[in-house]
Amino acid sequence: MGAIRQVYYNLFSRIYDHIIRLHSRDRQGSLRRFITDRTRVSAGDRALDLCTGTGAVAVELAERVGKGGLVVGLDFSSGMLEKAKQKSVKLNLAQVCFVQANAARLPFKDSSFRGVTCSHAFYELKGFEREMAVEEVARILEKGGRFCLMEHVLPEKLFLRALFYIRLFFLGSRDVKQFLRNEESIFGKRFKNIAKEMSPTGQSKLIYAEKGENI
Ligand SMILES: C[S@@+](CC[C@H](N)C(=O)[O-])C[C@H]1O[C@@H](n2cnc3c(N)ncnc32)[C@H](O)[C@@H]1O
Repeated sequence: MGAIRQVYYNLFSRIYDHIIRLHSRDRQGSLRRFITDRTRVSAGDRALDLCTGTGAVAVELAERVGKGGLVVGLDFSSGMLEKAKQKSVKLNLAQVCFVQANAARLPFKDSSFRGVTCSHAFYELKGFEREMAVEEVARILEKGGRFCLMEHVLPEKLFLRALFYIRLFFLGSRDVKQFLRNEESIFGKRFKNIAKEMSPTGQSKLIYAEKGENI
């Protein structure tokens, strides 16, 4: 199933940015600034963008950390990562690199990042991957570092809502409905100061928390 999902995302990568441009009212990149603002990452820091896709958030983080920092964009789809690399090369951002891996098993040392983002991808992970990914993020974050998770709000129109669930069902995220009832609980005992905000576009929500002391 994992391999089928990768093939799906590899194919999707060819049209992903076009779809986002058409679908999103976010023409000024306000969503990307919204999530990266809340990481509190600044010049010289290291940051990780989980499930980076074509790298839009990673690129925004790279602008923030500057030439003295480091941003890693991680994704399991080679197609998505190829598009992300093209973007960073075009913008001459030497401080960003891309790694192909599963979000549930992060190939990094403990406490190696100041901030972690995950934009519009967490729902698409399977339940057990979601839990493993949160454990992994807690491990690789510095104490006090933030994990910022942005997701679409549930569509109000019944038809669009049905499409939303059908897509997640076919991606294998069958427990997402249950998860939505108490999504803050995903941060468990590992994080503190959990907060939730609506995006300026009103179409996405951001949940973020800090790594606690007890890890
Ligand atoms: C809807 S896209 C979001 C991309 C990007 N974060 C954005 O906001 O545009 C979901 C991304 O998650 C990646 N993905 C899904 N499951 C994954 C996993 N288990 N490990 C790593 N990446 C994963 C997909 O390859 C895809 O690029």
